[in-house]
Amino acid sequence: MRDLTSLIQTALMERFGEDLKVDGGLPGLDGLARIAAHRVHRRYMARDVAPDLLRLLCACALSAPSKSDLQQGDILVVRDRKKRDAIAGLLPEMPWLAEAPVFLVFLANGRRIPEISRLRGRPFPNDHLDLFFNATVDAAIVMTTFLHAAEAAGLGCCPISVIRDHARVISDMLELPAKVVPVAGMCVGWPAEEGGITPRLSLDVTIHEERFTEKGLAAKIDAYDRRRAATRPYRGQRDTERFGRSESYGWSEDKARQYAVPLRADFGSFVRAENFNLD
Ligand SMILES: Cc1cc2nc3c(=O)[nH]c(=O)nc-3n(C[C@H](O)[C@H](O)[C@H](O)COP(=O)(O)O)c2cc1C
Repeated sequence: MRDLTSLIQTALMERFGEDLKVDGGLPGLDGLARIAAHRVHRRYMARDVAPDLLRLLCACALSAPSKSDLQQGDILVVRDRKKRDAIAGLLPEMPWLAEAPVFLVFLANGRRIPEISRLRGRPFPNDHLDLFFNATVDAAIVMTTFLHAAEAAGLGCCPISVIRDHARVISDMLELPAKVVPVAGMCVGWPAEEGGITPRLSLDVTIHEERFTEKGLAAKIDAYDRRRAATRPYRGQRDTERFGRSESYGWSEDKARQYAVPLRADFGSFVRAENFNLD
């Protein structure tokens, strides 16, 4: 138990820069240790993920809670090499898409419930933003649950939202019908390296006790930039032609530069074209 408590404390210290108290008598410390030590994996061994194991993990993922039990998150398993290469070909900057033995796409399915209403001969006066939002949230929860299940089985995963940079093309390629949209892809495989913990914002930024606050935000972000740079400095800087080279290039500068260009500005029109009403 002592080992697990110190594993958790060490991981969370690295993550948040905070020495958290962990009661060694807590049940499920191994599960907490795994969650605390999470890291995405982008390099995989040349070893397949057995179909039975994948199905088991998908079943665990789909055991996640679902808004009103509506069950609007689906999983598309893509093993077909041609399809995989076609998707990876759109995203050459992320070679892990082609290299992972399995690629999944987590889908927001806003189609099934209106279809059920139709089959039952009932009206469906709920074709508005909440349909899209609920289906997306369900898909995201299924995706996260899959990731935890896969990590518990020793696999490594990397969610892939860049597929939405090519939402129309990929949706057509995967023959997704209207009102079924990809939320994120996921590379899955046996990790080829240990990987490392990515530090997060300190907990006094992201946990709000009783009321929301942004007190001291700039200083806290500055402190996070420095803490993160000490263990995980950025290897490169974005858009130096436009913004120059920064002496102290940290997380906040990276995110500010990342979002200084329009990203997926056409996603709303894609979702509307998929027959979702976003009003
Ligand atoms: C919804 C979602 C989408 C993501 N999309 C991508 C992606 O397109 N490509 C990629 O390499 N990583 C992607 N990631 C992985 C993140 O970059 C990663 O989780 C983050 O850098 C923190 O690292 P960690 O998960 O190891 O703590 C995504 C993660 C999430 C949750």
